[in-house]
Amino acid sequence: MEPIRRLMNEHRVIEHAIDVLDKIVSLIEEGKGVDTTDIKSIIDFIQTFADRCHHGKEEGILFPKMVEKGVPREGGPIGVMLEEHETGRDAVRRMLRAVELMEQGRVEAKEDFVRAALDYITLLRNHIDKEDNVLFPIAKNLFSSEEIENMMSEFNRVEKEDIGEGVHEKYEELIHSLLKKYLHREEGHHIH
Ligand SMILES: [Fe+2]
Ligand SMILES: [Fe+2]
Repeated sequence: MEPIRRLMNEHRVIEHAIDVLDKIVSLIEEGKGVDTTDIKSIIDFIQTFADRCHHGKEEGILFPKMVEKGVPREGGPIGVMLEEHETGRDAVRRMLRAVELMEQGRVEAKEDFVRAALDYITLLRNHIDKEDNVLFPIAKNLFSSEEIENMMSEFNRVEKEDIGEGVHEKYEELIHSLLKKYLHREEGHHIH
């Protein structure tokens, strides 16, 4: 189903960003210097692409439509996903605060950053796994082809109005170049 395929493709890009973040954490733990500009780029990617755009489509479009079809909002996988989005936002705020302190020369903030980043990495990897393997398979059989088409146009509207045209591509490029820089990996992923 097309909307699910779109969200799963976005998961692959988010996983790449998480892999880079993971590598940066290891470098910090090894006592190596890391460019805080790159860390801030990843945080910006997470806040804009992963949270506002991707989680925005889940929370604002897919999940409510699943609830309309009778999937319970509370006490089931949707409730868990919503809670995890919130926990993730909190971890990202902690990361950002720590990086800003690191930039002011506060060495002890490195530890806070590592803790927040590891929390986020573990959370998001599990979260994506649950959506791909539990929640999305439920969604796949709920909708008529007309409802799927409507969902796609709502997805497209969110991407255009909330994020702006070309922004998706800009972030894909960013993650692609960070993958190359930190993990020497060439694979990129195209969403559309
Ligand atoms: Fe999610
Ligand atoms: Fe997701």
